[in-house]
Amino acid sequence: MDVTSILVFCVVFLFCYYALRTPSNIPMGPVSVPLLGNIPQLAGKIPLLLFRKWRKQYGDVFSVYMGSQLLVVLNGYKIIKEALVTRGNVFSDRPHNFILDKMKDGEGVIFTSGASWKKQRKLSLNCLQKLGFSRNSFEVCIADEAKILIKLIEQNTDAALKMKDILIMCVSNVICGIVFGRRFSHEDKQFLEVVANMSEDAKYIGHASILMNCFPFLQYLPGDILGTKTILEHKKVFDKFFEDLYENHQSTLDVNCPRDFMDLYLIEMKKNSTLPNKEKKLTARPTGTETTSTTLLWAVLYLLHYPDVQEKCFDEIQTVLGLKRFPSLDDRSHLPYCEATILETLRIAAVVPLAVPHASTRDVYFKGFRIPKESSILINLDSIFHDSDIFRDPRVFSPERFLNSSGQVMKPNEFIPFSCGRRVCIGEKVAQMELFIFLTSMIQKFQFLPVDPCHPPNLEGNLGIVYTPKCFQVQIVRRQDVKSN
Ligand code: HEM
Ligand SMILES: *[C@@H]1O[C@H](CO)[C@@H](O)[C@H](O)[C@H]1NC(C)=O
Ligand SMILES: *[C@@H]1O[C@H](CO)[C@@H](O)[C@H](O)[C@H]1NC(C)=O
Ligand SMILES: *[C@@H]1O[C@H](CO)[C@@H](O)[C@H](O)[C@H]1NC(C)=O
Repeated sequence: MDVTSILVFCVVFLFCYYALRTPSNIPMGPVSVPLLGNIPQLAGKIPLLLFRKWRKQYGDVFSVYMGSQLLVVLNGYKIIKEALVTRGNVFSDRPHNFILDKMKDGEGVIFTSGASWKKQRKLSLNCLQKLGFSRNSFEVCIADEAKILIKLIEQNTDAALKMKDILIMCVSNVICGIVFGRRFSHEDKQFLEVVANMSEDAKYIGHASILMNCFPFLQYLPGDILGTKTILEHKKVFDKFFEDLYENHQSTLDVNCPRDFMDLYLIEMKKNSTLPNKEKKLTARPTGTETTSTTLLWAVLYLLHYPDVQEKCFDEIQTVLGLKRFPSLDDRSHLPYCEATILETLRIAAVVPLAVPHASTRDVYFKGFRIPKESSILINLDSIFHDSDIFRDPRVFSPERFLNSSGQVMKPNEFIPFSCGRRVCIGEKVAQMELFIFLTSMIQKFQFLPVDPCHPPNLEGNLGIVYTPKCFQVQIVRRQDVKSN
């Protein structure tokens, strides 16, 4: 073959590629190359920033190719609401996915679709609601753990690096309290392993699952480039941990006296023999630990950058609670500035910036575009939180934007950090309680300072499903030791 025929071949190939690809009203998007799609543009870049640029260029509905797989990115509140609520019947599935398929075994709520998802979601919501009626039970779990958190920080005021690990352990323990009715010691080896493993998985899942979808052959490569083997290894560790607790609950279950989420779930399953066996083997897996602990971590990081906000939170707590009384959920309405600080953290950090990927159940027309069946749909929540029409000066951390003129908390309708529609987060209430108790109890007891006062740590993060801050150090001073001036 000579050079000309190779060139001719390339031209014909490219021509066919674009001719076949663009016929039918698919949303516009950046130019993609054969086989790789837009991966070259995305490689090494911060996707959220690119998405902001592409939204300006191509509009609120644009397409991105990961390999040959189409992702449709939805931007802005109006479009997102229309897709997830008005057209919720066609946009509420989850994409198929090699790793997740293996991980979930058809179980759970987050990554399943169709009838199985519906049943399990309803069951979970039911159980959470029943537990919530004795709201006490959430509050007790959270407060117990927050007190332990305070103690741990107190013992480690110099070894500040551990902040992230400590937060994950405590938040995981709250979920364990709710689901399994017990907490685990921070020295429990098995618990430590499971928590460390899950946190490592969260890093991989975002990238690995997308790449694996586009290039299924990657799974056959030797080695473990994308961490999938690690993830599956971790799943075994988790299953063992879970199985023990499950067996234990089953053998000690008293139908008239449910102790926790798992008991309630077991009771519901016993009532209903129509659930297939596989689902019975459950499901009620702790989720929402990574999100909640990451939000707390961002809050601390922003408090380092905005010491005036930190002082205002502290002053409010000092005025309303004093320095001794531990915060309770009843205090929420009396601490609007602290509440607003939590909301502002969820906004500016965009903790789950692209929600969890959705998928179209069939070929649909949306806003004049054709979206083929089983396309992945990315819900760009970040596009709402940084929309300057809704939030003025979106890059500034300002809790005041969530307060009205009489100092009460005011949430615009557009503020949906937990998403909306049929897939809306089921843990929102629990998460809000946790964030409030953990954050206010930490601010009540400690002042958080950057290690280097001139250079507080970077505000850029790493994007998986959860957007996490880069590792950072913080100097912690007990409030009782803060020199007043
Ligand atoms: C700050 C904390 C949290 C944030 C920001 C958050 C946010 C989200 C978001 C954006 C989604 C995706 C919704 C969609 O696909 O459109 C989601 C789903 C979900 N969240 Fe959360 N979440 C948090 C905490 C929690 C907690 C504590 C739990 C458990 C008690 C939880 C359980 C779930 C579940 C089960 C789903 C999947 C729902 C479904 O697919 O039907 N989340 N969350
Ligand atoms: C996760 O689990 C494996 C066992 O599969 C264990 O050897 C490893 O140390 C754990 N990873 C982390 C980060 O703790
Ligand atoms: C059992 O499950 C089926 C199928 O999901 C449902 O239609 C039915 O209402 C459930 N029955 C009870 C008693 O919960
Ligand atoms: C501020 O918000 C509170 C609670 O939502 C409301 O009762 C109050 O009327 C609002 N005040 C003003 C001045 O808008």
